[in-house]
Amino acid sequence: MASKYQAPRGTFDVLPEAARSRARLERTAAEILTRAGYEPIATPMFEDTELFERGVGRSTDIVRKEMFTFEDKGGRSLTLRPEGTASVCRAYLEHGMHKLAQPVKLSYLGPFFRHERPQAGRYRQFHQLGVECIGTDSPLADVEVIMLLSDLLAELGVPGIELRLGSLGSLQARHDYLDALKAHLHAHEAELSSDVRERIDVNPLRAFDADDEGTRAVMESAPTIVERLEGEDAEHFAEVRALLDAAGVAYAVDSTLVRGLDYYTRTIFSFVCDRLGAQSEVGGGGRYDGLIEQLGGPPTAAIGWAAGIERILLALDEEAPGAGRDAFVAVAEAEQRQRAMVLVSELRHAGISAELDLAGRALKGQLKQADRIGARRVLILEADGGAQLRDMDSGEQRPVDPGNLVDEMTGGER
Ligand code: HAM
Repeated sequence: MASKYQAPRGTFDVLPEAARSRARLERTAAEILTRAGYEPIATPMFEDTELFERGVGRSTDIVRKEMFTFEDKGGRSLTLRPEGTASVCRAYLEHGMHKLAQPVKLSYLGPFFRHERPQAGRYRQFHQLGVECIGTDSPLADVEVIMLLSDLLAELGVPGIELRLGSLGSLQARHDYLDALKAHLHAHEAELSSDVRERIDVNPLRAFDADDEGTRAVMESAPTIVERLEGEDAEHFAEVRALLDAAGVAYAVDSTLVRGLDYYTRTIFSFVCDRLGAQSEVGGGGRYDGLIEQLGGPPTAAIGWAAGIERILLALDEEAPGAGRDAFVAVAEAEQRQRAMVLVSELRHAGISAELDLAGRALKGQLKQADRIGARRVLILEADGGAQLRDMDSGEQRPVDPGNLVDEMTGGER
């Protein structure tokens, strides 16, 4: 029967089959990140609205249009987190992590919220896996974090991945560049789409993302920041590239790469997948050397990324097969149920995955249920106190010692 309620627009339920794919992804990620020394951190689902306004930037689409903002009963403005970096930096400062040995390497996984127009790969509640490496400007850190995401995508077997790399330079270089870009856009105002024209002074970088022909033509002759990099910024980018080459990580330099958050400086990167449609970025990130200071902390260089769990799963296009069970305990007569319950509990304590019938089925129905859940062996408790063990693959059945059933199932290895 269809319910009159549905999950809110842009949200979805994760049903057991899909949950198994997620669990595999999470296990793989945890292994890779733990081996590299990234420790998990969890921050609240909502924060003071101002944290995101200051952190992500008031001119970004995220802050201007996409935040789920509400007032609490005390009149405070709160926002469901649209991303994780600002929150992690807030926690880093709040807990004095800047006094620890640097860098501090953190990872997180959880739901994020953006009020975007839903489409395949774009949701209003989605999940990100992310890492932040805070407290170093070494190009080694850039390459370490990039390799973590590259390793994860390779280990999961995500097909058709390309890494795009760019650099925005320092905050000052970026500022000077934006002035040059604005001047270029103003000089060609008449050829731009109205959307881009209205936002020249607010967010000129977005013009690189525009689809209309007029704007695209103007952007072909636009100055790019990569070609304008100078001094330490140019050296930093060259070193990141040399380290990626040495590590054998393939990438394409994309001088028009834009990310939709204001805090980026120097290295930015994006992993795109050619199996996905319009929402082709499975993950991306970059340096944010000015963010912690912006939030009231000491000058602190940092870099990180976040990957969209749903996009990775879409790119993999797979549902993980069921894990199956080691055993099912069936009863020939209803009187044996208590014995079955106790036995299932003992088996589980012994590390064996086991189930019993909870729906009052006759023996035939129980065997069918055992088959449905992928049980490899079925223990049948008989009315006279005896027991039979059936191998579900071969169909073979033999009597077993009813006083020793747990040993029988564990192969006596306990
Ligand atoms: P972002 O590019 O906004 O970066 O998001 C990272 C990833 O989250 C995207 O590449 C995409 O896979 C996924 N994603 C974003 N929006 C949605 C959506 N509406 N539905 C489904 N998936 C989505 C950040 O959030 C930065 N905090 C990354 C970072 C960490 N930079 C430095 N450290």
